[in-house]
Amino acid sequence: MAQTKIWQGNYTFILAAAGSAVGLGNIWKFPYMVGSNGGSAFVLVYLICILAIGLPVMASEVLIGKHGRKSPINSLRKISIELGLNSLWPILGGIGAVTGVLILSYYSVFAGMAFSYVFNVMPVDLENSSFYSMEHFSNLVSSPSVLLFWHSLFMILTCLIVGLGVIKGIGKSVNVLMPFLFIFLVAISIYSALIGDFKQTYTFLFSPDFSALTPSIVISAMGQAFFSLSIGMGAIMAYGAYMPQKQLIGKTVLTIIILDTFVALVAGIAIFPIVFSNPLLEINSGPGLIFQTLPVAFYSLPLGNIFSIIFFLLISIAALSSSISLLEPFTAWLEEKNRFSRPLIVFLLGTFIWALGIGSVLSFNLWQDYKILGLNFLDLIDFTTNNIMLPLGGFFVSILVGWVFPYKFLFEKMEMKRINFLLFYYSLRYVAPVSILLIFIYSIS
Ligand code: TRP
Repeated sequence: MAQTKIWQGNYTFILAAAGSAVGLGNIWKFPYMVGSNGGSAFVLVYLICILAIGLPVMASEVLIGKHGRKSPINSLRKISIELGLNSLWPILGGIGAVTGVLILSYYSVFAGMAFSYVFNVMPVDLENSSFYSMEHFSNLVSSPSVLLFWHSLFMILTCLIVGLGVIKGIGKSVNVLMPFLFIFLVAISIYSALIGDFKQTYTFLFSPDFSALTPSIVISAMGQAFFSLSIGMGAIMAYGAYMPQKQLIGKTVLTIIILDTFVALVAGIAIFPIVFSNPLLEINSGPGLIFQTLPVAFYSLPLGNIFSIIFFLLISIAALSSSISLLEPFTAWLEEKNRFSRPLIVFLLGTFIWALGIGSVLSFNLWQDYKILGLNFLDLIDFTTNNIMLPLGGFFVSILVGWVFPYKFLFEKMEMKRINFLLFYYSLRYVAPVSILLIFIYSIS
């Protein structure tokens, strides 16, 4: 049966896809990755990956979804049959769906943390707000039960929305949330640039230092580009299935990418000035970075606690509009099998993901020292999904669309001006897959 659900309104697809892309990856992960990976060299590789790999791969994912009009697995199946391709291609969708489940298991733990900060009101008469905020964070992560509570709550919210159906569940909310989040973030970054050390932030983020590049920085920057854009696992493909027919892929994808990159950079500008002007805070403090720095900035503001509440609420909602896209591909596929209802599917998948997330909860405390290949449970899932599975997914998407799809089919479906199309076509065929391979080779050498 043909897929009949379509996003209402011209901007809803853009907002939903941007809602998927903009999330913890931009506001929480990007700043701490930049901080832990030496700054500008990471930023530069990240930006190059966004343009050279992210753009063509995202456009390809949208195309597959928009043409297939089903879950990633079944869109790939439908197109493979239609074009007479190898019947193994749908497996790509299957691997993506599993990747989404793995990512969501730890994503929810961090999103839960962000949500808990909505309720973290700092006492008014603190002597040292950065000390307080560091202590608060370390208390939070050392308590399995508290982390588990917030992780559970976030999973329930994600499941409720996906259970309702993505269209009903988020179509409306992203319309309001996204613009609000942008304005708020820009305001915070201006404030933080004014009170903190903006000059050092600027040098740290933007004056390129190629000598600082290492294999691990390069692969992390590529992984971060995939993660931040939500590509490589079918989330954008799944959303593409609901895209209005007349909407143009090229323009849409460009808009999403610009929004996503903008939010990440603005988040960096909001956070680093405070870190640099505050001797207690450390630039390479890892996943705790925003939780330790931003409350300090808010504290120095009149009505700071109110801003802090609004901010962490916005991050939590941004995380929610991302987490649902991690669950959607698997859910949509099971739903198409017509055996179980969507709510039941979401309940079962959600329970599984929740249980898997307990491993990440414990990685902060009880299981901290259990390591495989030098990584604890959380870092291992994070590393494998971001740095290996997503880029590999992107690699195969670029091979499928760039090399296997007939040229004429692709040209007609993309509806681009010839010059733009050629640019897209060659980056998809050569630049993207070759860069992914080179980065893989470089990182194991
Ligand atoms: N991009 C989201 C973020 O930045 C996370 C996310 C949502 C994601 N869907 C995804 C990451 C699919 C990889 C693949 O927070």
